Amino acid sequence: MSTISCRRVCKVFDTSRAHVTALEDVTLEIAAGEFVTLVGASGCGKSTLLRLIAGLDEHTSGEIETGGVSVRGPGADRAMVFQNYSLYPWLTVVRNIKFARQLAVCTRGRTSSDVEEASGRADALLNLMGLAQVSQAYPSQLSGGMQQRVAIARALMTRPGILLMDEPFGALDAQTREVMHDLILHVCRLEGCTVVFVTHDVDEAIYLGDRVVLMAPRPGRIDSIHAVPLPRRRSLTMKHSPEFLELRSTILERIRATSGIRTDLELLRKLSLNVRDTQRVREWVEGSER
Ligand SMILES: Nc1ncnc2c1ncn2[C@@H]1O[C@H](COP(=O)(O)OP(=O)(O)OP(=O)(O)O)[C@@H](O)[C@H]1O
Ligand SMILES: [Mg+2]
Repeated sequence: MSTISCRRVCKVFDTSRAHVTALEDVTLEIAAGEFVTLVGASGCGKSTLLRLIAGLDEHTSGEIETGGVSVRGPGADRAMVFQNYSLYPWLTVVRNIKFARQLAVCTRGRTSSDVEEASGRADALLNLMGLAQVSQAYPSQLSGGMQQRVAIARALMTRPGILLMDEPFGALDAQTREVMHDLILHVCRLEGCTVVFVTHDVDEAIYLGDRVVLMAPRPGRIDSIHAVPLPRRRSLTMKHSPEFLELRSTILERIRATSGIRTDLELLRKLSLNVRDTQRVREWVEGSER
């Protein structure tokens, strides 16, 4: 199990057209085995933070450590799952799952026992994720929920201590999501993973998270961190509990307050007033010219 530590992390994107502070002064300590969810308005830096922890992007300043080791790039201790499954369409389910492990074995020039071990691991994951029946199918023959289960199994294949998930259930329907929620909680506890899970769905964030980290935009930053006051073993009825509903409304209110949407609507209202005024002035000028 791995800890994640972000201390005063900043990320600035400098392009020829813009200078964007995607993250400013982000400090977050995540315990080994913890399930942390990230929510917040679009553009507040959720994906950026995940990519920095994954080592897919470089932070501008600050320090990021996983398992006490400074992040300098991608590593076998971390795996990432995206919304769009990103499976290899020309490989069967079982081959998709084994792919990362086979790559690792080839790179390190290991023996056939590694490959055998990988096969055992792949079979265990196929069973765990309920995919045994479709192991020889191709991704295009599977539903979205099944494809995402394959993507998760593939991510777990190399036994990462840290699982990073960017809106993994964003494309799934509500019923499939509910099934996936209980499955991912079960699998991550069983595997002992530390999880950072990005979502737009506040209910999902509370149901899955030990803590919900609420981020705010312009610049991207942590607004507040909310411990979820529910037993760790979740059940659907908890979604109707007073604790759940209270936290839900607190978080939704904070998202509304920090998203900048109100300010944008204000601006829009002012602009439309100006348009109306301009129209009135033009009509008046045209009338006086006649
Ligand atoms: N490669 C990049 N180059 C320039 N700017 C970027 C790049 N990646 C992200 N940004 C900017 O950084 C900010 C944070 O983006 P990010 O994708 O992390 O937000 P997000 O919270 O994941 O949003 P969403 O909820 O819409 O996925 C945005 O303003 C975005 O435009
Ligand atoms: Mg994103």
